[in-house]
Amino acid sequence: MPADRPIGIHDLSFSTTSLVLTHAELAAHTGAALGKYHHGIGQKEMSVPAVDEDIVTMAADAAAPIIERHGAGRIRTVLFATETSIDQSKAAGVYVHSLLGLPPNVRVVELKQACYGATAALQFATALVHRDPTQHVLVFAADIARYELDTPGEATQGAAAAAMLITAEPALVEINAPSGLFTHDVMDFWRPNHRTTALVDGKKSLTAYLTALAGAWHDHRAHHGPPIEEIHTVCYHQPFTRMAHKAHRHLLETAGTPADTATIEHAVAPTIRYNEIIGNSYTASLYLALAALLEEDDKLDGRTLGFFSYGSGSVAEFFTGQVTPGYRTALRTRAHREAIARRSPIDYDTYRRLHTQPPHTDGGRHALPHRTRGRYRLAEIHDHQRIYEPAPTRGETHPATEGP
Ligand code: CAA
Repeated sequence: MPADRPIGIHDLSFSTTSLVLTHAELAAHTGAALGKYHHGIGQKEMSVPAVDEDIVTMAADAAAPIIERHGAGRIRTVLFATETSIDQSKAAGVYVHSLLGLPPNVRVVELKQACYGATAALQFATALVHRDPTQHVLVFAADIARYELDTPGEATQGAAAAAMLITAEPALVEINAPSGLFTHDVMDFWRPNHRTTALVDGKKSLTAYLTALAGAWHDHRAHHGPPIEEIHTVCYHQPFTRMAHKAHRHLLETAGTPADTATIEHAVAPTIRYNEIIGNSYTASLYLALAALLEEDDKLDGRTLGFFSYGSGSVAEFFTGQVTPGYRTALRTRAHREAIARRSPIDYDTYRRLHTQPPHTDGGRHALPHRTRGRYRLAEIHDHQRIYEPAPTRGETHPATEGP
């Protein structure tokens, strides 16, 4: 029998793209009031991928520092969660496995259920480590949120990848066993195989999210999860950061402890720093909220955190975790801030040009210019194959927005 040791998130690292569009620039062209973006939906900037960036390059970029710190020798499983998959058959994690030089004796698989997939991966990972606490599991959450131009969803786009190492005796957060689950068949947001942008019924999606939150919370309590009074801060999936305010208000009302707006603002504030300037990163968004919280608040030793994961369609989970005393020494605050600071601002015309660039579907050879500022790049597509490579020099300056 495995020892009854704490299991959870030992390391957490994220990356984003090399380009950024500000909502001020977007508002100047869409005619929307900037206040709607900054306060109404709570978004200030969105990450935009350069032509040689995708979920694989972002994920490899996020995980490389984890491998450097902990080695790869104990990793036996790689779980890659995404809803912006690059292939219907081959798991994106296999490309990342290759780029990072992971050992061959590893299982790699991709998971999908909208923005919820990474939470399923995290839970599966804890079960694997419980079976053999000497093993590590590498979990990825990587996505590029894309909506049609000139639609309400456009202002909530973004992109990021989070990599998490799941182990026994975790340095950051122990994941607790009770979980609240909720599944309901609803068409609030979806992306059929033939589309590169998501379809969404915006207003319905807000209601579906809140219904799922209440459903998952009740199930969490029914399974003896801690009451609201024992939870220090809740990290929410943040499709846009105002959603976290709506969610927290709804959770407190559902739990029978309603609060005023100032209290809700105060509770949510430490979790939104990254999402409000990266945009929606679907599967990664909840774990960017966790990174923001751990980096912002230095008094979380031993505290219970709540997590609400929502994936349209819909599947949701409410669970809790215990912050490991001494967690501050394992954080990657500087690297995360550098990843954000290195993005190049683009103007609206460049953004639209990148957004409308047709995918290379003809099977021909398409070499892609070096634009990323990350460590890895998509070098070319030929014969319908994606060819990745380490980017020549990290930190080298490139005209990241120049056309191919
Ligand atoms: N100053 C301040 N606030 C303003 C304002 C101004 N000048 N103008 C408008 N606002 C406020 C509005 O009052 C509104 O606030 P409330 O929500 O508190 O009422 C807010 O700004 C948004 O305004 P609208 O409702 O008019 O915005 P919209 O019609 O453009 O749509 C949206 C908003 C539905 C969220 C849209 O952005 C969308 O469809 N987004 C994609 C779907 C989504 O993110 N859904 C979330 C749940 S689903 C999920 O979580 C999965 C996922 O990741 C997609």
